This record gives sequence, structure tokens and C-alpha cells, in this order.
Amino acid sequence: MDHFLYQGGVLHAEDIPLPEIAASVGTPAYVYSAATLLRHYTLFDEALAWGPHLVCYAVKAASNVAILKLLGDAGAGMDVVSEGEYRRARAAGVPGERIVFSGVGKTEGEMRHVLENGIRQINLESEPEYRMLSRIASEMGIEVPVTVRVNPDVDAKTHEKIATGKSDNKFGIPIARAREVYAEIASLPGLKITGIDVHIGSQLTDLEPFRAAYRKVADLTETLRADGHAIDRLDLGGGLGIPYARSNLAPPVPLEYGQVIRDEVGHLGCEIEIEPGRLIAGNAGILMASTIFVKEGEGRDFLILDAAMNDLIRPAMYGAHHDIIPVVEPAPGVETRPFDIVGPVCESGDTFAKGREMSPVDPGDLIAFRSAGAYGAVMSSEYNSRPLIPEVLVQGDQYAVIRPRPTYEEMISRDSVPHWLD
Ligand code: LLP
Repeated sequence: MDHFLYQGGVLHAEDIPLPEIAASVGTPAYVYSAATLLRHYTLFDEALAWGPHLVCYAVKAASNVAILKLLGDAGAGMDVVSEGEYRRARAAGVPGERIVFSGVGKTEGEMRHVLENGIRQINLESEPEYRMLSRIASEMGIEVPVTVRVNPDVDAKTHEKIATGKSDNKFGIPIARAREVYAEIASLPGLKITGIDVHIGSQLTDLEPFRAAYRKVADLTETLRADGHAIDRLDLGGGLGIPYARSNLAPPVPLEYGQVIRDEVGHLGCEIEIEPGRLIAGNAGILMASTIFVKEGEGRDFLILDAAMNDLIRPAMYGAHHDIIPVVEPAPGVETRPFDIVGPVCESGDTFAKGREMSPVDPGDLIAFRSAGAYGAVMSSEYNSRPLIPEVLVQGDQYAVIRPRPTYEEMISRDSVPHWLD
């Protein structure tokens, strides 16, 4: 459920008609609904209410400081994968004790920064990584809580580019090697084992892979405890999928996911952490664009928008589907026809959808890409020298620009010409 609905024939974000935002901010623009963000966070929080837990929002999904502050103020922890994300979370007022640091390639500088500024736990992914962290933490005279991300070799049944829990992925340490790795970590200074971490992929629409992975984590918890390690926390990753197409069967909801967690690991008495990103932010944001031209091609018609692959790369990168709807609701029964929906960037990959049925569209008409709140703005670029597009947050009958559109001058003035060319 989200808060982007037609009211009086016009698509609204909560109580704000989208044309009002378009008139003041221009297009393309990302628009987020605060109520939807909070609702999705709360669904996860309630799904784990049966025991101690922390929902650590995966900052990578949508990392605007305003979004982080909204969620952080509601009690969310944060899962970060870089110093930049850590700094964003801190800028949003989230304390270090609610931030977990994940990722396969943390640099020495990043480790030092989070250790100096406070961190709840670091999720370790390799031998060289934990040896480096041990050296840094002991030089600083501190002990840092750590988990090891284990790779359970489970097929997440998702897009190959976002599956992370198979043995041929770069992530984690093979679960079969976990005992020897935990033994080595226990012998190293500066590291305090607190639990186990696992994350098998993103956009999972079936709970069985989670169940299989969590069962392996439960067995490992017992084994490691028998080896004398204190396993008090389980970080069970993110990955629950969202319905991108209204027509599809709805994927499982957080309550069902929370039940799987309870079934598989609830008896262990551990504090549960999860790292959802997409389900919190995905359907809480839309990308609004304007039609530039309707172009008749050879046997197909093109809808050329002012948004492009640099603004929303998911269709070009993963062949991802986004529902694309007109901002002014078509009259009931109006005929649709197929369009290829494209942006102005100079490559054929800049195609959002092929043969998509749309009601008649005229130049200047506003359209909205649904489900664009996660991995939308954060993955955008200035390719073709198209300035990054603004982000707007709506809450009830108020809205604010939470990232302005840079001017062309601002974009160009970041470059500098070396003196010998002057
Ligand atoms: N934790 C870890 C360690 C992760 O690698 C990820 C996502 C998450 C949590 C959050 O997963 P979520 O709940 O959002 O599924 N750019 C891609 C998605 C990449 C996801 C990478 N890792 C896309 O647009 O589909």
C-alpha cells in the first residue's frame, strides 16, 4: 500500500496534487511520501515485535538525509556500506549505536572513521578484512563488536545481478569455513564477536530461500555457541521484494517474513537485526516526468520523456519493470495503444518500456513511474550532462524540496581546467 492515489482524477502524493509539485519544481523529479516510508518501517518493526530487534534501514536504497531523519526519528537503525552513507546517517541524527557497517570492501580510512565516531557493529566479510580491523581497533585501544557475514550458498531466485548468497558471489565467508574463521577472530585483539550476519539477495518474492538461509544460521548459532562464542545477535539482512507491477501476485508481506524469522531462529534468544531497503522506500517514491514528444516510428510509437536512464537506470540495467501511469487519470473506457517509452539519452538502452499500453498522451503531459523510491535517485548520474534531478518529500499537505536541482552553472563549475590549458 502506498499514498500515491488519484483524487478527483489527478494523481496525488498524500494530499498534494502532483501537478502542483511539477509547477514549482519542474520535471523530472523524485517525489516521496513520508507516510508510506513510515508505514513500511512500522510494518517491519511490528513483524519482529515478538522479541528484541532493530530494523536497520538499508541506506543504499534511498539515502537523502531527510528520509534518514524521518526513519531515524521513528526509531530505525541504519545499515551503511560506505563512509558516505555513515556520514549521511549521522547527519540525520542517527546515533552510532544504531548503525551497522556492512560491505565487502571497507577501506582502512572508512574503518577508522566509524570506530572514531561510534558504531553498533561491523559485519565482516573476509579474512584480510578482519585482520585489518583487528590491527586498527587494537591500535586505537578499543574493542569493536563484530559479526561475520556467512555465505549460506542458497539460491535467492532473484535477478543474477542482485543475488548475493550463492557460493560464486563475492559476498561473505563460506558457511562451511565459519568455525575456523570465528576461532581466529576470537584469538585476535580488538574484535568482540557478537553474532552472525547473512544476506542472500534483493527483490526476493518467495520466503523459502530466506527460510533455508535462516535455518543454516540457526544451526551455525548452536555450533558456534558450543565452541564457546557469544552469539547474541543475528543480522538477517534485507531483500524482501515489492510488487513492481500492479497486475502481479503480491509478494509476501513483512508480517509473514517476521514469522519465518521467528520459526527459524526465534528459539535462540538472540536480538534480531534486519536490513530492509527496497520494501521501505520502493513504493514510497515515484519519478515524475513530462512528455516531450510523441513520435511515430516504423510500426511503433515512441513516447519521449524528459526523464532518462541517467535518472532511473533500473530498466536499462536489470530489465526492471516500473508501472508508468498518467498523472491525469484517463477517462473510464478510454482506448489504450502500445508505446515504447524512452528518454532523450543517446543510446537505445535508454528505454523504460517497450510496447507498453498507455491511454493517449500529448506533449507536456505528466506521467509517473511508480515504485521508483528505492534504487532510483541513488543510482542516478549526470550522463549526457543532464543535471541530477530534485527530490521532494511530501508529508500530508506539506512538501519540501529535499535536494534541489542544480543549475547548469553549478554542474559545469565543478570541473576545472588545468593551468596549462588556460
Ligand atoms: N543489506 C545488504 C548487505 C545488501 O547488500 C542489501 C542490498 C540490503 C541489505 C538491502 O536489500 P533490499 O531490502 O533493498 O532488497 N540496485 C538494485 C538492488 C541492489 C541491492 C543490493 N543490496 C536494484 O535496483 O534492484
